[in-house]
Amino acid sequence: MKPSVILYKALPDSLQQRLEDHFTVTRVNNLSPETVQQHADAFASAVGLLGSSEKVDTALLEKMPNLRATSTISVGYDNFDVEALNERKVLLMHTPTVLTETVADTLMALVLSSARRVVEVAERVKAGEWTKSIGPDWFGIDVHGKTLGIVGMGRIGLALAQRAHFGFNMPILYNARRQHKEAEERFNARHCDLDTILQEADFVCLILPLTDETHHLIGKAQFEKMKKSAIFINAGRGPVVDENALIEALQNGEIYAAGLDVFEQEPLPASSALLTLPNVVALPHIGSATHETRYNMAACAVENLIDALAGKVDKNCVNPQAKP
Ligand code: DGY
Repeated sequence: MKPSVILYKALPDSLQQRLEDHFTVTRVNNLSPETVQQHADAFASAVGLLGSSEKVDTALLEKMPNLRATSTISVGYDNFDVEALNERKVLLMHTPTVLTETVADTLMALVLSSARRVVEVAERVKAGEWTKSIGPDWFGIDVHGKTLGIVGMGRIGLALAQRAHFGFNMPILYNARRQHKEAEERFNARHCDLDTILQEADFVCLILPLTDETHHLIGKAQFEKMKKSAIFINAGRGPVVDENALIEALQNGEIYAAGLDVFEQEPLPASSALLTLPNVVALPHIGSATHETRYNMAACAVENLIDALAGKVDKNCVNPQAKP
């Protein structure tokens, strides 16, 4: 008999088939207590769990005593209680490499659209406001040659630095726990502390995972240190930023604009003040959301689950120490 797994995200047919070649698959829509109760036997016997964008916490793990591996269709794993997984010797797999270039494209899109006011002026054209040659009230600011500050120099930060350096001739400052030799050698990036980035960068780009250390890393004090002309970009995780402080900074003209793909609450509530500000580009967490990359992420997650349950954790494993 094949081992049982729970699938909580729709997969393309070919990938669902690949999963079914290895496992007996129970497909559910979410991991809510009601769903778990409805499929109690399947959850109780499952050795694997595959999906994304749902909390995997102690309450769920208690209903899954046979679980040995979880596989998330994402690079971020802040939805998982890793400590609880470790205690129960449950492996956690993720998809760190396949989305790098696509997320870096999204970051560059946020940089360009915030600086050149692409969304705002396109809306004005659609509203019939382009009735004569445009004047300064439609102008944006240049991107090329401006200083880019990258907070978090991981794979995605590096891919952003590549675009900014070669494509836009931007000097690059970065903050990371360690110096990044490749970023310095290939893109002339300068390692500096967070305050230096806040004070000197024209674009402050955040690409950090959400952890206890990064929660509200950027708040009132940090916005106050930025240039009035600075553009703030976040495509990591929303709660790394104190969103109320960001709204205040935008409203008070402490910074020029913001390009955001992530928010403290997602989906962003329609009542959010961010949506009333013309100098905000707000995207619905599209970082990796292209057909190609989302397919590749799902394929990677399926292979990750197959590998983990076969005891192979040499790549894409967050907690190889949990291997029994
Ligand atoms: C991830 O993979 O963590 C991204 O946020 C999804 O786009």
